[in-house]
Amino acid sequence: MGPPAAAPALRRATSLTAMTAPQPLATVIQGSLSRGLEARLNPGVSVEDLRVGKFVVIQGERHRFFGLLTDVTLATSNPQILVNPPRPEETLLQEVLAGTGTYGVIALTPMLMLVPRQTEAERLYPLIDPKRPDDCGSAPPAAEAMELLPVKTVPAHFSQVYEARELDFRTVFGWEDDPTRRNFAIGQPLDMAVPICLDLDRWVERSNGIFGKSGTGKSFLARLILAGIIRKRAAVNLVFDMHSEYGWEAASEDRQATTVKGLRQLFPGQVQIYTLDPDSTRRRGVRDARELFIAYNQIEVEDLALLAEELNLSEASLENAIILRNEFGRDWISRLLSLSNAEIQEFCEQKMGNKASILALQRKLTRLDDLKYIRNSLPHNYIGEILEALSRGIHVVIEFGSQSNLLSYMLAANVITRRIHQAYVQQTERYLQSKNPLDRPRQLCITIEEAHRFLDPRAAKQTIFGTIAREMRKYFVTLLVVDQRPSSLDREVMSQLGTRITALLNDDQDIEAVFTGVAGSQNLKTVLAKLDSKQQALVLGHAVPMPVVVQTRSYDQRFYAEIADPDWSEAADAEVLWAAQKAKEELGL
Ligand SMILES: Nc1ncnc2c1ncn2[C@@H]1O[C@H](COP(=O)(O)OP(=O)(O)OP(=O)(O)O)[C@@H](O)[C@H]1O
Ligand SMILES: [Mg+2]
Repeated sequence: MGPPAAAPALRRATSLTAMTAPQPLATVIQGSLSRGLEARLNPGVSVEDLRVGKFVVIQGERHRFFGLLTDVTLATSNPQILVNPPRPEETLLQEVLAGTGTYGVIALTPMLMLVPRQTEAERLYPLIDPKRPDDCGSAPPAAEAMELLPVKTVPAHFSQVYEARELDFRTVFGWEDDPTRRNFAIGQPLDMAVPICLDLDRWVERSNGIFGKSGTGKSFLARLILAGIIRKRAAVNLVFDMHSEYGWEAASEDRQATTVKGLRQLFPGQVQIYTLDPDSTRRRGVRDARELFIAYNQIEVEDLALLAEELNLSEASLENAIILRNEFGRDWISRLLSLSNAEIQEFCEQKMGNKASILALQRKLTRLDDLKYIRNSLPHNYIGEILEALSRGIHVVIEFGSQSNLLSYMLAANVITRRIHQAYVQQTERYLQSKNPLDRPRQLCITIEEAHRFLDPRAAKQTIFGTIAREMRKYFVTLLVVDQRPSSLDREVMSQLGTRITALLNDDQDIEAVFTGVAGSQNLKTVLAKLDSKQQALVLGHAVPMPVVVQTRSYDQRFYAEIADPDWSEAADAEVLWAAQKAKEELGL
C-alpha cells in the first residue's frame, strides 16, 4: 500500500518504470458503505484528469470493487496554507506542497463487488499488481470466473483505485459473443471503446421502457434492440409501428444517410409486415406486406372505454354501450349504426336505455367508419394469422400508414393485443397443465409508441396493456413502451418496468418518474440532465448489472453488417434446447 505522499523525484521515477503496469490513481482514505468512499489522489495524478462519471476499480484486500467517480474535491492538510497560499511566482513551493500539503480527493460510489467464483479465478483474473505488466487487456475474458455481487462492504484502508480497463468492463457488462448468454451490445461507455451489453434473456423477461425527449433517438434505440432480439432469438416481437419506422426503411435526420433499413430488410425471412393502409405501404416500396382488417364485432366496450377521450364519449354513453352489447351480442356496433331514430326510441323504451346517450354514441361511432381497416364483418381471421406467425417465431410489424392518428392506433393496438393476450393465457394454462416443454409459449415482446396513451393512470386500470405491464412475465408476454412523457405513465406500471433506457429529459417530473422505485438515484438524476441531445442514454435495471450511461450504438451500414442474417437453422436448434431447459426449471422437472 503506497503512502499517499511521495517526493517529486521519486514520483517521476515511478512513472518512467513499468510503462505498461496499471497505475493506481488514488488511495482510499475513508468512507462508509452508505455514503461512499473518499480516496486521496496519488502523487503525479492531476485532479483535472479525473472527471465525474468515470468508471474505477478499487482493489481491496480480497475483493475487487467496481464503481463510479462521483465527485472531485481540492483538499489541504493544513489550514495555514489556505490562509497564506504560495504566490504565483513561488513555483518551487507550489511543487513541494503539491501532494503533501495540498491534494485532490475523489468521491467514489462502489456499485458492484467482483468476487472470484472458483479457486481457478485467481489465476484467470489476477489481482492488480503494480509491478506486473498489464497483460490482461485483450486476453480471453475471464469474466465467467467472477461473480458480480451487490456491494455489502467497503475496501480496506489504503486500497488502491485504478481506472477501469477493458477486462473490467467485460466482466461487468459482458460481451456480445459470450456463448453462455444472449448479450447484445447497445453502445459504449462515454470514454472507452468497449461494449456495454444488455442481457436479452433478462430484458425480455420483464416489460421495459425507452424514454427521452422528441428527437433523442428513442425509435432508433428501440429498433436497435429489436434487431438484437431477433438476431439472438431471445423472443418473438409484435411491433405497433405508428410512424412506419420499424418494418421498412425509416427516415433519418443524418445528412449522409437519409434513410435507414427496417427490420424486414435486415432479416427478410424472419419478419412479416402487416399493414392497415395497403396503399401507403405499397407506395413506400414494400412489396409483400399482408393486409390486415378489423371487424366491428371484434371491438369490445372495453376498447371504446380506452378511446373515450378520443371519441369524446361520456360515462353514460359507455353504460348504454353495455346495454346494447348485452342485447345484440358481438355485432352490437354494426346493429347500432344501422338503427333508425324510431328503432332507438323503441329500444330505449324496452331496455331502459337512454335515448340521448345512445344517439350520441351512434353519432360518435360513425367516426370509426372512416378508418380504412374497419369492416362490418370478416370472412378471414387476420389476428389468428398473426398469432400463427408469432408461434412460428416470425416477428410481426404492423404498419399504420395514413391510419396513424391516435384513435386508429389505439383501437387497432388494443383489439389485436387483447386477442393475442387471451391466446397466450390459454396456451400458458395448457403448458402448465400438460407440463410438456413443447407447449411452452414463445416469449412475446409487444412494442408500442406513445405508450402513455395506453398506460396513463386511468387507462392502465382498464386496458390490456395495463394488465400486461402489471402481471409481468406470468403469461410470457411483456411490453416495450416507447414514450416522451414518462411522468404521464401510471406509477405502478413504471415501477414494474424491468429495464429503463432514458435519453435526455428536461422536465423534472419526467426525470423523477424514470427513477420510480430506484433507491439512491440522486447522482443518476444529475447524469440524466447532462446527456447529449442525441444518441446518449442512461441504462438502468434488470438487464444490466449496474446503471450506466452509453453512447448508443450507431444504426448504420456497419451495424447492418455486424448483425446480418446468420445461419438461422443453427440458431433455431439452439433456441429449442434453451426453451427445453427453461421449461425444466419452470416446471420443476
Ligand atoms: N443509434 C442511432 N444511430 C444513428 N442515428 C441515430 C441514432 N439515434 C438517433 N439517431 C439520429 O437521431 C434522429 C432522431 O432519432 P429518433 O427518430 O429515434 O428520435 P425519437 O426520440 O424517436 O423522436 P420522436 O419522439 O420525435 O419520435 C434520427 O433520425 C437519427 O438521425
Ligand atoms: Mg420516435
